[in-house]
Amino acid sequence: MNLSSNTILLTGGATGIGLALAERFVAAGSTVLICGRRAERLREARQRVPGLHTYVCDLASAAARVELARQAVADFPGLNVLLNNAGVQNRFALAELPADLVAWERQREEIAINLEAPMHLAALLIPHLRRQREPVIINVSSGLAFSPMAAAPLYSASKAGLHSFTLSLRHQLRETGIRVLEIVPPGVNTDLGGPGLHDWAVPVAEFADAVLPRLAAGEEEVGYGTSEFGRLASRAELDAKFRQFNA
Ligand SMILES: NC(=O)c1ccc[n+]([C@@H]2O[C@H](COP(=O)([O-])OP(=O)(O)OC[C@H]3O[C@@H](n4cnc5c(N)ncnc54)[C@H](OP(=O)(O)O)[C@@H]3O)[C@@H](O)[C@H]2O)c1
Repeated sequence: MNLSSNTILLTGGATGIGLALAERFVAAGSTVLICGRRAERLREARQRVPGLHTYVCDLASAAARVELARQAVADFPGLNVLLNNAGVQNRFALAELPADLVAWERQREEIAINLEAPMHLAALLIPHLRRQREPVIINVSSGLAFSPMAAAPLYSASKAGLHSFTLSLRHQLRETGIRVLEIVPPGVNTDLGGPGLHDWAVPVAEFADAVLPRLAAGEEEVGYGTSEFGRLASRAELDAKFRQFNA
């Protein structure tokens, strides 16, 4: 994809991987709209990356997604890229979870943010995107889509679902002109899951610097390090990785 002349709706772009991608797309000459729940983080992102456009939005809510898509297209009729990046990661011990609606609501919300929201935003924006020049949908999945982290079972399942959906979406949209791409991060040092949990992981700038040239070169599915291995691995290699990672 071209990096320089897009108008991109990038969900969850105020922090972490999303902010690093937003910064680079803006530097390349694209217009970037980001959204998130925390207004303060959006304000900080605008200070760090002048030119960013921001929307407060909770993507767990279907009504909020409808409103975000409507407002973004109204404000930027040339919007041609949807980059589904927002995500949350919870650790759940499945045998210990209370069997009540409060506990289920927290699980359901993780699925809604990580899986429903990208599906719904794609559905909302496909009619608009197919009328644009060089339209693209990019989904941010995870290396855990290919080999789960058992401690984050709903997260891993939601990312496996997002990878599967991305393949179907790419196939179904192949005649529409909309390209469908997937970014498959490995562990990256962000606050995903809570501050400190990913301190061990790949620096976010290193990851973002590696991904964008590969998107520019036309690759459809881009991993890095362990997730590059995982997305290309055999079933036997994934089984070995699962045992090692979850030991
Ligand atoms: N870091 C890793 O190791 C890693 C590995 C594989 C995949 N990923 C994926 O990369 C993507 C970015 O994560 P990250 O690592 O950069 O973590 P992050 O810094 O926590 O970024 C996640 C962003 O999503 C936003 N978000 C979460 N829930 C939202 C909601 N309901 N509505 C709107 N925005 C919401 C957050 O903003 P608010 O909280 O303000 O809403 C935040 O800006 C996620 O999809 C994640 O699953 C990360």
